[in-house]
Amino acid sequence: MERSSLATSTADPVADRFAADRDAVDAALRVLCARDLDGVPNDVAAAITYSMLGEGKRLRALLLLAAYRSSGGAADASALAAAVEIVHAYSLVHDDLPCMDDDDVRRGRPTTHKVHGAVVAATAGIAMVPLAARAACDAAAALGLPLDARGAIVRELMRASGAGGMVGGQLLDLAGEGHTLSLADLERVHGAKTGALIAASVRIGGIAARATPAQSEALDRYGAAVGLAFQIADDVLDVTSTTAQLGKTAGRDAALGKSTYPALLGIPGAVDRADALTRQACDALREHDLLTPSLERLARFVVLRTS
Ligand code: IPE
Ligand code: IPE
Ligand code: MG
Ligand code: MG
Ligand code: MG
Repeated sequence: MERSSLATSTADPVADRFAADRDAVDAALRVLCARDLDGVPNDVAAAITYSMLGEGKRLRALLLLAAYRSSGGAADASALAAAVEIVHAYSLVHDDLPCMDDDDVRRGRPTTHKVHGAVVAATAGIAMVPLAARAACDAAAALGLPLDARGAIVRELMRASGAGGMVGGQLLDLAGEGHTLSLADLERVHGAKTGALIAASVRIGGIAARATPAQSEALDRYGAAVGLAFQIADDVLDVTSTTAQLGKTAGRDAALGKSTYPALLGIPGAVDRADALTRQACDALREHDLLTPSLERLARFVVLRTS
């Protein structure tokens, strides 16, 4: 695998799998935009579509699908994976708003509020939460899952997105601007603002495959470690990469006075911590025979990526 890409080589079955999964998830996102935005005002629907169909890595979707298969799932869960990507896309719309990180570039294009205005972008973001919940519910039903599993999936997605997870972490991140957080506090912020949704993606894959309690516990440990490693790598890339390469504004964390892993540990220290988390993540799954080549590759990709 090339360092920077999840899907580049034709002689690589894992990369081929990721490419096929991405295509299926993108197709599911397009269906949702065409089907579920009825009655939404045109400007808001356009902003939702702009945000949902932007060129992201779809990492959370790939993690969900890989966790689903490793736990024995055999159906097409791409519509369920798309639901997680809706929450993620909404988080980016709000993260970029002038009242948050005030960013002009995302996924190589102007941010949603730059194109559609802040009020429409904020409204679109809020509207994407129930859209995601409905998409998850519909996808779980289409997979033929029993009611308890359907409820558990939607509940998990909403829990991870909420005040105890992503939204809460985002608030702590903003409150921390201009202050130097301790490593323990920063880990809590990163674990919540980014780790919670990544861990939930993995967990939902397990729930959809009816994973056993022991398998779920191993998937949780993998997801938490990968989620934290992902945000550490994001902090490192903010310092070491360029706007062109990232498709978003490099150097934004320092400009906003954020506490970051490189600021607290230095770049080598931050990279070491992310590497250790990757190993921890894989070990957690190996102990339960759940470490598929896809899940191993995704854990490594999180720290090796260049965008
Ligand atoms: C960016 O996430 C936001 C963070 C949580 C750091 P990604 O790097 O996964 O964004 P896309 O989806 O690939 O654009
Ligand atoms: C964003 O963290 C986390 C969420 C979107 C929930 P960042 O603010 O570091 O993400 P980027 O760097 O703007 O993508
Ligand atoms: Mg932010
Ligand atoms: Mg940001
Ligand atoms: Mg960042």
